[in-house]
Amino acid sequence: MSIKLFIPGPVDVEKDVLEKLAMTQIAHRTKEATNLQESISKKLQKLMYTDNTIILSTSSGSGIMEMSIKSCTKKRAAVFSVGAFGDRWYNMAVTNNIPADHFKSEPGMPTTPEMVEEALKTGLYDVVTVTHNETSSGLMNPVYEIGQVVKNYPGVIYLVDAVSSLGGAKIEVDKCGIDICLSSTQKCLGLPPGLAVASVSEKAYERALTVENRGFYFDLVNVYNRVKKDYQYPSTPSTPHMFALDYQLGKILDQEGLDNRFDRHQKLADIVREWASKHFELYAKDGYRSNTVTTILNTKGNSVGDLNKELAKRGYMISNGYGKLKEKAFRIAHMAERKEEDLLALLKEIEDIWDL
Ligand SMILES: Cc1ncc(COP(=O)(O)O)c(C=O)c1O
Repeated sequence: MSIKLFIPGPVDVEKDVLEKLAMTQIAHRTKEATNLQESISKKLQKLMYTDNTIILSTSSGSGIMEMSIKSCTKKRAAVFSVGAFGDRWYNMAVTNNIPADHFKSEPGMPTTPEMVEEALKTGLYDVVTVTHNETSSGLMNPVYEIGQVVKNYPGVIYLVDAVSSLGGAKIEVDKCGIDICLSSTQKCLGLPPGLAVASVSEKAYERALTVENRGFYFDLVNVYNRVKKDYQYPSTPSTPHMFALDYQLGKILDQEGLDNRFDRHQKLADIVREWASKHFELYAKDGYRSNTVTTILNTKGNSVGDLNKELAKRGYMISNGYGKLKEKAFRIAHMAERKEEDLLALLKEIEDIWDL
């Protein structure tokens, strides 16, 4: 029996999209490869509401996270964290010898524009990192409002991790003033893991030009220059993923339509929140709840591990709480191509197993 994944990535991928991974291979230094990247760039620019340059990375999203903070920090990074993935950005800074400070919010609370203002007015920082959608806590940060603060500091590069939200929630990159907005394919974009995407502003590129020791594979300058030159990459990209991405972006833009897609994610989030509030409690503060994954406090103290074992027999999988929240919370993802009827069926199974 196949298992329907209600985990926040990797997600179920539709058969027609999977088939694109098996297309006849092309050489990566051909006009065909250039055309493929150009097509992906134009579609991602629409999805991200930006004129910035689009780059891909044959890695998961963490690759572009590391590339961004390493290539853009000359002075010091202000790393804002609302959970495990914000903390990851800080760990990347520390392990790369990048000067950084870690600003953590209280559990379930967002990164606020005020926190960012407070940090930036010290004049210590030239990079700000924010997690748009924190997959561990099910929290969505106000990246637009934060962007309005960052705009007042022209020497600061604004990096946003949209790994678990791009394609499921509207992120207007240019309106928000985001210099690098990055994501992974295995979440709301509805593709298999193995590729990461990002929009990169000229300002971020110009900063990177001044930063030493950017590394090699994840050197932003190297990748940006090559994409600008001929829509190709310094190393061999995963062309199978690129075929699938190009096709899936076409479906997202032309078949479903962006507004419908964002509305569907919102509707699924509303259903889970209402259900969770009836039986449990939500982890994230009202007003900052994620539209793509809901983190629910396990107030009844049932075993989430056992629940998942029973759900597997019935064809479903959800996620346990992340890190310290293991067994204290559980997460239901509602992203990518998930449909309302599947979600309602899952919730019914949980009610049945836990006798809610
Ligand atoms: C918010 C967030 N950021 C970063 C990552 C890391 O992404 P990847 O596993 O694609 O490297 C994840 C993965 O779950 C995530 O949810």
